[in-house]
Amino acid sequence: MSIRTILNETMEAALNKQGNAELWSAYLYLSMSYDMKQKGFEGMGNWFAVQAKEEFAHATRIFEYIEERNGTVKLFPIEEVRQEWLSPKEAFEDTLIHEKLVTEMIHNLMDKAIELKDYATQGFLQWFVNEQVEEEDAPRKYLAALEKAGDDAAALYMLDKGLGKRKED
Ligand code: FEO
Repeated sequence: MSIRTILNETMEAALNKQGNAELWSAYLYLSMSYDMKQKGFEGMGNWFAVQAKEEFAHATRIFEYIEERNGTVKLFPIEEVRQEWLSPKEAFEDTLIHEKLVTEMIHNLMDKAIELKDYATQGFLQWFVNEQVEEEDAPRKYLAALEKAGDDAAALYMLDKGLGKRKED
């Protein structure tokens, strides 16, 4: 058996850290979901609930890969997340900031896989590199729409209604 089929320890630790970070993202968006619902924005609550499920799927995609490479999955305690946002605009601002950070984390993981000449992990991570384009694009678009809507109740209502249509992939 080639040594290259075994996941490098440093790579395994970095992937486990990312998997746990994705769980934290799920926790963050679940918190945003319930806060938006409590504020009367049911559609946005739905959007963030779907987003939370997507993050959970990102986490398990990474854990499945670790397992497939004969590594050990490690689940850590999930740190507390913020529980209230001043407005939907602030929630989407935080979402965009957070997703930019996640993109950076994914790029750092890719750098590590390249440094270690771990070709399988490079291939695996490419999906996440592509996914982050969409992950940043969606909140950026909604943020722009929210800025345009301002305090216009009718515009906010329409936007909320639109976000309520999001379904799981
Ligand atoms: Fe899993 Fe939103 O990145």
